[in-house]
Amino acid sequence: MECKYLVTKCICYDTTFEEMKRIMKERKIKTLDELKDVKIVADNCRLCVPYINKMIETGETKFHVLLES
Ligand code: FES
Repeated sequence: MECKYLVTKCICYDTTFEEMKRIMKERKIKTLDELKDVKIVADNCRLCVPYINKMIETGETKFHVLLES
């Protein structure tokens, strides 16, 4: 489904996918679990989880499409 708004961050922890990507690159992190060891994200409502996984898979940090968990 096409989304009217851009999805760009984990809202609960106010952390953009761009920032997560930077941290992962700097620390050579490959998975969300490893990211969560160094930065608290994706641990509340978890709506951002499919986006973070997509970011890890494709490198995209802004999403027009709603992803389901
Ligand atoms: S948006 Fe990431 S845990 Fe809620």
